[in-house]
Amino acid sequence: MPDNRRRILVTSALPYANGPIHIGHLVEYIQTDIWVRFQKMRGHECHYVCADDAHGTPIMLKAEQEGITPEQLIERVGAEHRRDFAGFDVAFDNYHSTHSPENRAISAHIYERLRDGGHIERRTIRQAYDAVKGMFLPDRFIRGTCPRCKAADQYGDSCEVCGATYTPTDLIDPVSALSGATPELRESEHLFFRLADFEGLLRDWLVAHDLQPGIVNKLEEWFAAGLQDWDISRDAPYFGFEIPGEPGKYFYVWLDAPIGYLASFRNLCDRTGIDFDAYCGADSDAEMVHFIGKDIMYFHTLFWPAMLAGADFRLPTNVFVHGFLTVDGQKMSKSRGTFITARTYLDHLDPEYLRYYFAAKLGAAIEDIDLNLEDFELRVNADLVGKFVNLASRCAGFINKRFGGKLSEHVDEPALLGDFIGAADAIAAHYEAREFGRAMREIMALADRANQYIDRRAPWVIAKDPAREEELHRACSMGIFLFRVLALYLKPVLPATIARAEAFLGGAPLAWDDVAATPLGVQVEKFKPLLQRVDKEKVHKMIESSREAQPAAAAPVTADAAAGVDPVAPQITIDDFARIDLRVALIEDAREVEGADKLVQLTLDIGNEKRNVFAGIKQAYAPADLIGRQVLMVANLAPRKMRFGVSEGMVLGAGPGGADIFLVSPDAGATPGMRAK
Ligand code: 2FM
Ligand code: ZN
Repeated sequence: MPDNRRRILVTSALPYANGPIHIGHLVEYIQTDIWVRFQKMRGHECHYVCADDAHGTPIMLKAEQEGITPEQLIERVGAEHRRDFAGFDVAFDNYHSTHSPENRAISAHIYERLRDGGHIERRTIRQAYDAVKGMFLPDRFIRGTCPRCKAADQYGDSCEVCGATYTPTDLIDPVSALSGATPELRESEHLFFRLADFEGLLRDWLVAHDLQPGIVNKLEEWFAAGLQDWDISRDAPYFGFEIPGEPGKYFYVWLDAPIGYLASFRNLCDRTGIDFDAYCGADSDAEMVHFIGKDIMYFHTLFWPAMLAGADFRLPTNVFVHGFLTVDGQKMSKSRGTFITARTYLDHLDPEYLRYYFAAKLGAAIEDIDLNLEDFELRVNADLVGKFVNLASRCAGFINKRFGGKLSEHVDEPALLGDFIGAADAIAAHYEAREFGRAMREIMALADRANQYIDRRAPWVIAKDPAREEELHRACSMGIFLFRVLALYLKPVLPATIARAEAFLGGAPLAWDDVAATPLGVQVEKFKPLLQRVDKEKVHKMIESSREAQPAAAAPVTADAAAGVDPVAPQITIDDFARIDLRVALIEDAREVEGADKLVQLTLDIGNEKRNVFAGIKQAYAPADLIGRQVLMVANLAPRKMRFGVSEGMVLGAGPGGADIFLVSPDAGATPGMRAK
């Protein structure tokens, strides 16, 4: 083992277990994966861990809405996340869940250390409570009129129209987004973490580490504003860990989320024998770095180091923050089809394209990056296919056919190869500093030189002259030698393509220090195409299917709404109303849905066609009682993909939900298909 072998624990932020991975998330996972692969190629001992962030109110409510337990939900979503990450070759050494025994134990341990150290305080607070739902409401689940600009239907913490921020008690006519009830204020005792106790430590941490300037500025701002106590408890019902010694109180999801990094690593250590304390103990001389997005800096640069210090763990060596992703210059949008999930991308395109494109755009600064779809196609085709892959294919055919697959013993232009090898340190420095865009530019500049060399030598011309066989052999071998160096440099970014290149070059995995080990006289394998060009049509199809896959927006006053979807709607015009195709529908059949607590599957006759609709009315109606009834339905609602099938409309109901839903029916005389006006 070389003396300079580093030990590095690396994490990416834990995705919530209530939704799919999308290309916005992938900026971070691909960035981290490239960095980790680079460190491993350099021979360092590097462990990359992650997990699903499985706790909190949204996950609890989503499970309820689907009629399953939170455990079932997080298991299903966890499996989807793992599959999607694997699809993009994001190679975690361990992928765990925050809802795990390791996380429960470490969270309890950290909390108890903080409590025993005097850093936890109790305080009674008044909070919005939904008496119908029987729970306290997070700000995001309260809607009402903005106190400043009077815009209707705004969130409990901020107005999307005028940008005002406020507390839910400031809202005019607040309602619970869960039940429609007016929230009442109730008192409850909460536990607070005294962050300010750690200000000195955090200031020392800030100066002792080489943090990005964007983080340093933010920290200075936060110190100047004064560090506030942090509410770390939530009342039941809550999906999370009960706080030791505090029955009915749960850790706020953000308390146990970062602890999930340690829990995932602990799980890996227990399975493989790695020494956990050597990485995470207070005296550790290993590195611990967290890759995160700019929206969660506060948690990772204040709460997290303070919690670690208060519980006698080591502090992070660094927190690497990246910006957000835009697509074609705008926020990802469901209606434009640019909210692209990992799965939809993989259904249409090769993950290597996106890995390369992100690498080409990423730097060390906290800046947003843009995925411009036209540029994506042009750049991947020009760089990867035009410059890199073509270099090999221009030479490999001759080596295979004319020289039995054996490379020359001679280097045709040693100075050129020397320049390629000599770039290793500069390119490594770029990778190390997360300046991947710079690394890609240097590599592509070398690829240009390699192609100029081939153009100059023109093997296809030499090949016609039997007297120039040796020259042909040297030129094509030189092309492969150069290709090999480029492949080595691109390996952290393009694992699948370079695995194919390694197979062609004889199979040995390329490590960074192998750069100068030119394969003189080596036997290569038959050359197989390394990567296809980006097909414009497939990009187009991916956008189209991203548009299609979006579920319809929930309409107010429907049975589905009563079953848990936000029932509060902003004002609409008569023209808006005219766009809704309300029809009389006859319930021909009604069945239970296996695995769903709330759903009934309806077959509706709307005159000229049949519709399949899933309605959240099971607690209110026995399926058999519904058959033969006429109801009103929204017939032109976009089909909505659900776990159990596609729902092709909504039936109208009223009421707060649960057993209290009342289907809206027309008077006698109406017939299926009649339009309601
Ligand atoms: O913002 C998020 O998506 C969180 N789930 C990230 C958690 S990162 C870590 F702290 F667990
Ligand atoms: Zn406003």
